[in-house]
Amino acid sequence: MRRHPGSPGLGLLTLLLLVLAIASRAGPVTPPKAAIATAHPLATEAGFSILADGGNAFDAAVTISAVLAVVEPYNSGLGGGGFWLLHRAADGHEVMLDGRERAPLAAHPDLYLDARGQFVPELALDGPLAAAIPGLPAAFCHLAEHYGRLPLAKSLEPAIGLARDGFPVDESYRRMATWRLAALRASPAASAQFLPGGEVPPLGYLLRQTDLAATLTALATQGCDGFYAGPLAERLVSGVRAAGGIWSLEDLARYRVVERAPIVAEYQGWRLVSAAPPSSGGVLLAQMLNMLAVLPPDQLKGEPRAHALVEVMRRAYRDRAAYLGDPDQVAMPIARLTDPDYAAGLIRDYDPARATPSRVGDGCEPETFEEGRDTTHFSILDRDGNRVAATLSINYPFGSGFVPPGTGVLLNDEMDDFSAQPGVANVYGLVGGEANAIAPGKRMLSSMSPTFLESERGVAILGTPGGSRIIGMVLQGILAAVEGAPVDDWVARPRIHHQYLPDRVEYEPGALDAAGQAAMRSRGHRLEPVERGFGNMQAIHWDRVGGRVEAASDPRGAGRALVR
Ligand code: GLY
Repeated sequence: MRRHPGSPGLGLLTLLLLVLAIASRAGPVTPPKAAIATAHPLATEAGFSILADGGNAFDAAVTISAVLAVVEPYNSGLGGGGFWLLHRAADGHEVMLDGRERAPLAAHPDLYLDARGQFVPELALDGPLAAAIPGLPAAFCHLAEHYGRLPLAKSLEPAIGLARDGFPVDESYRRMATWRLAALRASPAASAQFLPGGEVPPLGYLLRQTDLAATLTALATQGCDGFYAGPLAERLVSGVRAAGGIWSLEDLARYRVVERAPIVAEYQGWRLVSAAPPSSGGVLLAQMLNMLAVLPPDQLKGEPRAHALVEVMRRAYRDRAAYLGDPDQVAMPIARLTDPDYAAGLIRDYDPARATPSRVGDGCEPETFEEGRDTTHFSILDRDGNRVAATLSINYPFGSGFVPPGTGVLLNDEMDDFSAQPGVANVYGLVGGEANAIAPGKRMLSSMSPTFLESERGVAILGTPGGSRIIGMVLQGILAAVEGAPVDDWVARPRIHHQYLPDRVEYEPGALDAAGQAAMRSRGHRLEPVERGFGNMQAIHWDRVGGRVEAASDPRGAGRALVR
């Protein structure tokens, strides 16, 4: 078609109108403000300081991860790992950076069994035999090199300062250190670092970690070779081996982070982007949302809602145990598991009036874990629209409790996230299958679920710690976001939890009133109130329609969410 000189062609005009229409529906492309929500005020401030110094959300992710390693040593650290879900605004690139720990090459399926073939839980929880090869330092290098604007020497500055000069001990530190006192005391270097004078320090005590400051400085100046090779690697390995562990220099040299395509699903016009295996989070969230999508709408409101949530959680967690593990070592039917038709089949036997019993196996009743606040989560949105949702862990509070002398690195006990004996519960009561059996170099299955939601209406960035309860908590946060509830509600609403086995419904105070409890019992659910709240959700909402950014930190924790 010939164009009239000086006027746009019909095709161009149509394109222009289309772009304008999409832009007006989707709102501005960049947010009016940046937001950060983390579990510790010092980490939130450090994140903003790096943004102010010219960093982007990915630089801030390095800074925050490193600061949390210093000020929340019971939840995450250089001796642990995590998942960083990234969205780069410039090209929409979305990826999950997998910095999950890997089993040492000398690991084998019988590692935690006694002479009679019985699982010995303490071996997978306390001391260096429980520790897998850390991924956090490698993730820092990858983030800085491929996504950030600043060198590690800059983004690690705040953490180095806090490790060297000290941070004031808070109530969470004291509670977790008291909880893990025996494990920490068993390691002289951990005791010296975390228990000055051999005791849990008092509130406000300025805790300095000079070895950790030196290790962070080595990372800042030498990059990953400052951790995975050279003198530090030698100290890590010799410390582990002298205390009965099985690490080798080759384990450290061979550690790599992996970029993985996130799990993507749709729910009520929202696009879910969440963690891929070796996290079970995204797969289970997709399954649960797909199941909820086919339930009659009256089941998702009022009194029946708790029953519906429990029944979708039950079915999704059953698949977790049956199918999921390390994608580099196990073939998994991810496309089928996340297919809406498959979910419709899973929930076909849903009975509004009756609980569907789980199959309780021998020896699957777990010890009750006092609470589920270990692990940490943070969410970031920068002014360019870059997003990070990151969940990091050293597993149990203070991990394995073991520090190799001269390193300042508290090691994880993530090996407990393997199914040490298929069919036998781990510390969270999770029962695993062969897909998550221990093998050399393997990544253990996780529940960590850093998540984005996106629609024309807005963007949500969220996640939480909490062991096996993480996925159900994130589900409940997603549902609040989709309902249009304020972000404070996403993080604050009382929660319920069911994980197939043990077959019981845990609920926070306020999650079920007396009538709700009676209705659940009448359906055959076993109820178990949890006195202390669970979770520590950190969430950001960019409301594209209203042109607002809001952030919230879970009132159960002592974190801070700021918008600037
Ligand atoms: N260690 C907790 C998790 O990865 O799920």
